Amino acid sequence: MAPSGSLHRLIYLSSAVGVLRADELDRIYLRSQASNGGAGVTGLLLFVEGSFLQVLEGPAAGVASLMQKIRRDRRHTGITTLYSGACAERTFADSPLHYVPARNLSVGEKSAFADLRQTVQARSVLMGPPAPSADHGLSAFLTSFAEVRTA
Ligand SMILES: Cc1cc2nc3c(=O)[nH]c(=O)nc-3n(C[C@H](O)[C@H](O)[C@H](O)COP(=O)(O)O)c2cc1C
Repeated sequence: MAPSGSLHRLIYLSSAVGVLRADELDRIYLRSQASNGGAGVTGLLLFVEGSFLQVLEGPAAGVASLMQKIRRDRRHTGITTLYSGACAERTFADSPLHYVPARNLSVGEKSAFADLRQTVQARSVLMGPPAPSADHGLSAFLTSFAEVRTA
């Protein structure tokens, strides 16, 4: 991966529109391998019970232009940015997009994901959209997740 002066991380949650077929997810994944890699972006895509959680890390311009495309994608909706800002180092350095389908998550990871989604939804209702820098227990979840996956 190309070295980068300043790294940007963007994390969002979204909901799939309708039922996404496995071959469509495969297409997203294959497409992402190429375009994220070309932009020096690495990250993670989780898909659990109709919800996506995506982490994109890389040069700010690369992350922003990818996110512009992803926002327009009609296969998901309700994109809620959980974090958007500088990061010291990549959490998921080894892949342009590490895709993890629900069946590969442990019971603990699934319940951590469900908790996170519930917290974010509850806060959105009470206080409007979460501030982009609010954490919601996210870094702990992702850090443990990255450790499990890369061990
Ligand atoms: C949840 C979700 C995550 C996506 N993540 C990526 C991604 O990381 N990189 C990417 O190139 N496309 C991603 N896509 C697909 C893009 O939205 C878009 O369809 C694709 O980049 C096609 O780009 P093109 O118009 O240049 O062909 C994602 C789509 C969804 C629904």
